[in-house]
Amino acid sequence: MSYPYQIHSIEDYHAAYQKSVETPESFWADIASHFTWHQQWDEVLNWNFYDPKIEWFKGGKLNITENCLDRWVEKQPHTPAIIWESNDPHTPSRTLTYQELFEEVCRFAHVLTQNGAKRGDRICIYMPMVPELAIAVLACARIGAIHSVVFGGFSAQSIADRIQDAQCNLVVTADGAYRGNKTIPLKSVIDEALLTCPSVQKVIVLTRTNTPVSMMKDRDCWWEDEMKKISAQGNLPFKAAIMDAEDMLFILYTSGSTGKPKGVVHTCAGYMVWANYTFVNVFQYKPGQVHFCTADIGWITGHSYIVYGPLSAGATTLMFEGIPTWPDAGRFWEIADKHQVDILYTAPTAIRSLMSFGTEPLQGKKLDSLKTLGTVGEPINEEAWHWYDENIGRKNCPIVDTWWQTETGGVMISNLAGITPSKPSFATLPLPGIQPILVDEKGSLVEGNEVSGNLCIRFPWPGMLRTTFGDHERCRTTYFSTYENLYFTGDGCLRDKDGDYRITGRVDDVLNVSGHRIGTAEVENAINRHTGVVESAVVGYPHDIKGQGMYAYVIFNGIHVNEEQTRKDICETVANIIGAIAKPDKIQFVSGLPKTRSGKIMRRILRKIAEGAVDNLGDTTTLLDPLVVEEIKSNKL
Ligand code: WTA
Repeated sequence: MSYPYQIHSIEDYHAAYQKSVETPESFWADIASHFTWHQQWDEVLNWNFYDPKIEWFKGGKLNITENCLDRWVEKQPHTPAIIWESNDPHTPSRTLTYQELFEEVCRFAHVLTQNGAKRGDRICIYMPMVPELAIAVLACARIGAIHSVVFGGFSAQSIADRIQDAQCNLVVTADGAYRGNKTIPLKSVIDEALLTCPSVQKVIVLTRTNTPVSMMKDRDCWWEDEMKKISAQGNLPFKAAIMDAEDMLFILYTSGSTGKPKGVVHTCAGYMVWANYTFVNVFQYKPGQVHFCTADIGWITGHSYIVYGPLSAGATTLMFEGIPTWPDAGRFWEIADKHQVDILYTAPTAIRSLMSFGTEPLQGKKLDSLKTLGTVGEPINEEAWHWYDENIGRKNCPIVDTWWQTETGGVMISNLAGITPSKPSFATLPLPGIQPILVDEKGSLVEGNEVSGNLCIRFPWPGMLRTTFGDHERCRTTYFSTYENLYFTGDGCLRDKDGDYRITGRVDDVLNVSGHRIGTAEVENAINRHTGVVESAVVGYPHDIKGQGMYAYVIFNGIHVNEEQTRKDICETVANIIGAIAKPDKIQFVSGLPKTRSGKIMRRILRKIAEGAVDNLGDTTTLLDPLVVEEIKSNKL
């Protein structure tokens, strides 16, 4: 068995690309016809970027879990769907075949409905990387509820914001999570969040760490008990809810340049087709292979390339609970050998961090099952690329550098493993269906042999976001209003003479710290909540391992017992409000911030100083108080 729409040669790629641009509707209708539908769509595509309105396969009826489970249970019930590797290398791994995963998903779908969940409800999932997380996600989709997975590293406040925004009525969580040698008390974080979330009626709690938890009567119940009740009722299959192609499948919150994260909405059919198509083509997945994506399901990468992409393709997906450096920096490589991993997909940050341990952790690792390597989430520097290529791929595995975003649902620009050529630090070519263009500040097309500009997409693709939950206008202003008739990515980009794209980083106030997207405004708001802080400005600076580090300039008029302690306190405040991932790397106390006469903070200057380019600040004469720049420069950390 293989995939009828898998691209097998560079000629195939060019032909598919051309067809996708010339006749997009028949191109995607062809591909969509290979999925399980209850009813054909009325129209392949209906769109405008003005409202914006994006509809793919409208009128088509389906359930994504029938495409991820039922059709594979029929063909290959005993094929492993999920291989799970624990945080602790001594805990036995688990394998769930398609048959077993199907049964678990049906069982949990019953649990959800018996606890009052209905089609269209929003369900928040805050769980460790265990198979039950994937089961919960799929069970939501099975009953037609909309999942909103929140990464386990977010704070109670962040969870509360997300639950309130989506008006979730049910939460699925666990007592705790293991991360390296730490235990994170997930349930108590949820308890704190729920103090301000009256919409939540039920909390289902999985036992993972045996951390003591408080269970609220009539609200909280144990996953295991609920599952047992269903088994006692005879373990019936769960008939999938029949959804419209354009019904919401999930919400995933992501940071933007303004304060509040937005709920990116993906819908059932377009997302499914896109996640599947990109999975099969970018990684060149062959049936029987083991796909190991090291992301967390709390991020879009996990949604698309741990859960929906692989499972909709009948693939074997490997889920890892732990972190790359515990118990030692050989953990990924050990897992690759143990489970005979074919495809390894990770973030440049992880590569750079593992690189810093040298080759000792690679001793005794065979890595001979690996066929394809991938990176995602941030630009990869050439040094890391070559290290990955030489030490992990043994110069024998194509590396796919995949550029995409939460909003795009799946990979947009990437080489196809072993089919189209790679070029270190370049994402290279657009996938079929993707029409990237570069524009200048004014929105004029940038053309030529070697050019840079802001990256936009000029035609819809099936996996693109449809709206931001509860606020369609925000979706329009964020993505579709900067340049008329274009989707604006927020990324800067270079295109070389071969037509290859290289993403150079965000051009808005969004940072990419260790591959995590963090809005500077969000962090500033958190810092400003710290007592004694008057104002702050956060910018990025190059960081050897994280890609970008976070540099905060803070005006503080509290009592400095000790500057170092105040820095720690501010970090703690940020961790409390957003999560530990948003802690600034450096905090410089300043007496003022460089502002224009109209009061706008000159971030360009702050960025330059943080980068260490203090001699090249450009014009500072328009500043309200040019002297403040001198002070900031001389106290730079
Ligand atoms: C950045 C992650 C360079 C980019 C899938 C984008 C990349 C943001 C790459 C989206 C790449 C992602 N090369 N930069 N291969 N992949 N990015 O929403 O700035 O967490 O806009 O989605 O990550 O981050 P998000």
